[in-house]
Amino acid sequence: MATLREVDGSDPGLVRAYVEAHNAVVLETWGTTDFHRTEREVAGGLRDQRYERKVRLVALDDAGSPVAYGALNLFLTDNTHTGYVDVGTAPTARGGGIGDAIYDRLMDVARQAGRTKLMASTDQAVEPPAGPTALSAPTGQGRVALDDPGVRFLTRRGWQLEQVSRRSVLDVPLPAAALADHREAAQRAAGDEYRVLHWSGPTPAEWLDQFAILQTRMSTDVPTAGLDWGEETWDAQRIRDREAEFAERDLRFLTAVVEHVPTGTLAGYTAFLVVPHTDEYVHQHDTLVIREHRGRRLGMLLKAANLQRLAVEMPTVRRIGTWNAEENAPMLAINVELGFRPAGGAGEWQRDLAQA
Ligand SMILES: CC(C)(COP(=O)(O)OP(=O)(O)OC[C@H]1O[C@@H](n2cnc3c(N)ncnc32)[C@H](O)[C@@H]1OP(=O)(O)O)[C@@H](O)C(=O)NCCC(=O)NCCS
Repeated sequence: MATLREVDGSDPGLVRAYVEAHNAVVLETWGTTDFHRTEREVAGGLRDQRYERKVRLVALDDAGSPVAYGALNLFLTDNTHTGYVDVGTAPTARGGGIGDAIYDRLMDVARQAGRTKLMASTDQAVEPPAGPTALSAPTGQGRVALDDPGVRFLTRRGWQLEQVSRRSVLDVPLPAAALADHREAAQRAAGDEYRVLHWSGPTPAEWLDQFAILQTRMSTDVPTAGLDWGEETWDAQRIRDREAEFAERDLRFLTAVVEHVPTGTLAGYTAFLVVPHTDEYVHQHDTLVIREHRGRRLGMLLKAANLQRLAVEMPTVRRIGTWNAEENAPMLAINVELGFRPAGGAGEWQRDLAQA
């Protein structure tokens, strides 16, 4: 039977084991190393627990090799009723009770921390077709496969499927002329009152307060279906704290914002997350246009502009991956127009901890 060890970041060997276990699971699910993590990135994240308590477990077999991992994030400043749990067992070690042992330990921690709900995801490389072996999200959009080991695991433990998100991948670089056309058409629709600004890494001081407002809006403006998720409160300090954490983890944002020039306010933003393990892949992170400014093609303007910027700043990038709720039609439409193709997704689950 495997031994469970807590990974608090102080033992580099355990951090390495945790990363190995995690990377083996995501490689098996996705068939790509795009989701791999590095030891520095994981250890850096563990050093900063101001906004989330991060519990990490790794299971080692008799030979000391990592075979499974568990992660529990407990939000500390808002959404303090809930948390996010993730358990993964290497394919060769499944079905022997390791996942169960990690899961039980993390559920105990969550309960002791007074959490009343928990969230989790099940990744899928392909969304299953409708039929008796598929479970549909209550939103009516998207399905997961009932015979997926993660789906079985969660349904048998009292979890509810709340939402399905789609993963989409864009192969880049796009032809420069096509990108320029997208940007010009969007700028024409938006008019002269809007202009795009870019930054790489830390937010310029003059935009900090405005950017915090956008970040707060982002937490409630994306569709969350039945997930019990409330507003995150972002201020300038929290933005700076995340930037410091990201520097420790070797992560960086490439950000585009759109300014509403007459009022000097920010109407929206989009960001790529640059990850340390590869220069061929970036993650398309948040995109938001605040309600007052919607319907003017600002989403396309931001995305096309940031893709142009990416091609200049990181010409080695070949793939961009992103996640959207299946019911998020406006965002998916922009992505499809740009050439993003569906590439699987995830079930988003929730469990009420008041249950037995
Ligand atoms: C879900 C996952 C973590 C389960 O890991 P695991 O180590 O195989 O988990 P367990 O062995 O404890 O349980 C798996 C099954 O084996 C059964 N089992 C448990 N102990 C057993 C034992 N000693 N002998 C035989 N079967 C056993 C469990 O009842 C369980 O059955 P169920 O899925 O029908 O409920 C694994 O399939 C995985 O990594 N999936 C990808 C990631 C994912 O989707 N995670 C879930 C979201 S957090």
